[in-house]
Amino acid sequence: MQHAYAPYSHFKVGAALLTAKDEIISGCNVENASYGLSNCAERTAIFSAMAQSGPGLVIKAIAVVNDQGVPCSPCGACRQVIYECGPEAIVIFQSANGWKESPITELLPEGFRLQ
Ligand code: THU
Repeated sequence: MQHAYAPYSHFKVGAALLTAKDEIISGCNVENASYGLSNCAERTAIFSAMAQSGPGLVIKAIAVVNDQGVPCSPCGACRQVIYECGPEAIVIFQSANGWKESPITELLPEGFRLQ
């Protein structure tokens, strides 16, 4: 979160990913002047993990924090990316009712998988 590049939203987010090999890889949001090109902390962590360790990445869990201490659950795009590498992943995030741990399949029912 401290490494976040968020000059447009001023909303700094960090994600910590726990892999099946029990490694922890972190990520932050990286924004762009062309707003739509911004990348969320969750996807930065997942893409970094894969860049470091290869395509065999399996996500056991991913936790998300922000610098404002407000509710912040992963966006739809990140849910699909988490599901790709972690169909059994647990997502830890701040909800409107405090900290929550949810299976990704609860946050993203019927996630897309290419047959
Ligand atoms: N953001 C994340 O990094 N993760 C989330 O789960 C929600 C939103 C970022 C994207 C953008 O840089 C900023 O927060 C405001 O939307």
